[in-house]
Amino acid sequence: MKNPFRYGEAVLGENFADRKEELNELVRDLSDCERIFLISPRRYGKTSLIMNVLEVLKLKGICTVYIDLYKATSLHKLLEIYVREITRAVETKFERMLDFFKKTLPGLRPKVTVDPDGTTSIGIEYANSKEDTFRFLDKIFDLPQKLAVEKKRNFVVVFDEFQEIREFNGEAIEKAMRASIQHQDKVAYLFAGSKRHLLYDMVANRSRAFYMMGRVMTLEKIQRTEFIEFLFDTFQNTGFSIEQNSIEHVLNLVEDFPYNAQFFCHKLWDNFYDTKEINLQDIEPTLDQILTENTPIYLSIWDGLSLLQRRLLEAIVHAGSKDILTNKSIKKYDLGNISANQTALKSLMEKQILDRENDVFCFTDVFFKEWIRRKI
Ligand SMILES: Nc1ncnc2c1ncn2[C@@H]1O[C@H](COP(=O)(O)OP(=O)(O)OP(=O)(O)O)[C@@H](O)[C@H]1O
Ligand SMILES: [Mg+2]
Repeated sequence: MKNPFRYGEAVLGENFADRKEELNELVRDLSDCERIFLISPRRYGKTSLIMNVLEVLKLKGICTVYIDLYKATSLHKLLEIYVREITRAVETKFERMLDFFKKTLPGLRPKVTVDPDGTTSIGIEYANSKEDTFRFLDKIFDLPQKLAVEKKRNFVVVFDEFQEIREFNGEAIEKAMRASIQHQDKVAYLFAGSKRHLLYDMVANRSRAFYMMGRVMTLEKIQRTEFIEFLFDTFQNTGFSIEQNSIEHVLNLVEDFPYNAQFFCHKLWDNFYDTKEINLQDIEPTLDQILTENTPIYLSIWDGLSLLQRRLLEAIVHAGSKDILTNKSIKKYDLGNISANQTALKSLMEKQILDRENDVFCFTDVFFKEWIRRKI
């Protein structure tokens, strides 16, 4: 039997603890061609939610396009992926699509791809020079609207990890995108990401191209009652006996982080596969095991940090994430001056070790936090 607790990948169908409200809200608003920024800390379940939303939208006959910006290492590559995914979303005769491509993007050489499942898509041939491709920037971003009108089917386009667009030639690409998409009435856009300060800056800063381009939806952790029920059912459905309070204990330890909860339950499921019985006293040893197994990774992260960064992490672990920069804790934990501390915290956020909500700093990986508490 396969371990039903999945982590490190988007979870779909029965592996997805249904976030009913968020799912319904997104399906409704994306069907209405809204533009939405979906923001949350890392590993809260954005991509999983998006994938489940897209499944529902597809059933409603909407053409859906999902682009992960982490997969695009340059703007040229992004455009190549973008065109390919848009043509893939429309189930239409290949020749017609080729005609459409030639008409809409004259002068760009198409590249035809056939997937193992037989789906054909047309991208931009990478051999086209960057200059040629960039000349068509506005036409490329117009593609979904044009196809939507022609096919009489709305589009939903998702850009996951959208903040990464800032890595490509600065504002020019954002401006070109804005110019195209602001007039589109048959296409909904979902911009998702976890680097919250960057994304908020993109939507809330007047001087940026995406200022007020859509509403912001923040994804919270999965509601506890819903999550307990999901985890409990998943154990039960695979023949395990476990009390709800044991699951609650797991969620307390992982502070309700969806990724860590699934990781923990995955371990429990493996450890007790023979007896299929898990008791409250089995939880702590499993946490010890996880921390021990993760030690090489955590040590290498720890080794890569400056002394000040380490002290700041210790301060957050022991003093709590609020008010760590008061005079008292600066003294107690031997922290630096204000600007040195701020630089170090910024770097810890860039490394995605810490996340920040207003003035509260939290660990993106609660196991790492626990590891520091116990081992350092
Ligand atoms: N609704 C859910 N039901 C069950 N598990 C979930 C759910 N959402 C997230 N998870 C767990 O969290 C993990 C991370 O989810 P996902 O990749 O969707 O998050 P993310 O916010 O996109 O993360 P990242 O910031 O790394 O892109 C999943 O592999 C799964 O273990
Ligand atoms: Mg994701």
